[in-house]
Amino acid sequence: MVSLERHYSARDIEVRILTALRAAGLNPENRLSPEELGALDHFHTGGFQASCELLELAQIRAEDRVLDIGAGLAGPARLLASALGCRVDCLELSPDYCAGAVLLNRLTGLEDRIGVHQGSALDMPFSDDSFDAVWMQNVGMNIADKRKLYTEICRVLKPGGRFAFQEMVAGKTATSYFPLPWATDPADSCLVSAEEMCSVLGESGFIAELFEDTSDAHLNRAAANAAPSQLSLGVFVDNLALKAGNARRSLQEGQIRLVRGVFRVK
Ligand SMILES: C[S@@+](CC[C@H](N)C(=O)[O-])C[C@H]1O[C@@H](n2cnc3c(N)ncnc32)[C@H](O)[C@@H]1O
Repeated sequence: MVSLERHYSARDIEVRILTALRAAGLNPENRLSPEELGALDHFHTGGFQASCELLELAQIRAEDRVLDIGAGLAGPARLLASALGCRVDCLELSPDYCAGAVLLNRLTGLEDRIGVHQGSALDMPFSDDSFDAVWMQNVGMNIADKRKLYTEICRVLKPGGRFAFQEMVAGKTATSYFPLPWATDPADSCLVSAEEMCSVLGESGFIAELFEDTSDAHLNRAAANAAPSQLSLGVFVDNLALKAGNARRSLQEGQIRLVRGVFRVK
């Protein structure tokens, strides 16, 4: 496991979250909405808006059981559970993020619909054929063994189940600006090309329904939406401005690309 950023204790992350909410004018004693938290808990490129777009594409239904892998603070899981009414299980490696996810599920009144499990995507604590859909945003970039990852996802999905994801992939030249949001140095960054990603997905039992490069759309939108928010990932990510700047520059220069996809179990 690579160190994505400084790891806080569960108590630290709860205090940081509650302090940030109050500083942003939100009262944690009142029920909060997933939208109000969106700038804090969608820990991936494009944030809350990217999650809403993937939600449209993934075609998940209210009756589906969904697994969010590498769920972080479970912002996307709360969006899915509140927008669709589905049951979501979160799998997250970091115990402190799990604690933050449990706290935010309670503050949004969604704890009955969202389960939080601490564990690894490479050895998932779920039986075969458990889920109708698997959701994953900005997680595979830290997992070197893509074949094991995708085989595990295929295993826990029911026949015909969907895998909806977004990830950074390798571009035409090597990444050279560090730290990046997912990697302090090159050894932490496990990017493969889009072609290799699709090829391993196919060999692991998936067929593509959708696969697209959203790098340019993301860069254009990021330039237009520069409005600062009181809530931000900076609550728990060190050196956020430097890391985000390096990611933007890497995207602009084609060292990395942003892709998303919806694949189905064959
Ligand atoms: C960039 S964050 C994305 C969080 C969440 N998907 C989101 O978009 O808000 C990546 C997350 O993946 C988790 N992660 C990394 N490797 C993992 C693994 N092998 N198994 C489970 N979670 C993992 C990290 O702990 C981190 O919370």
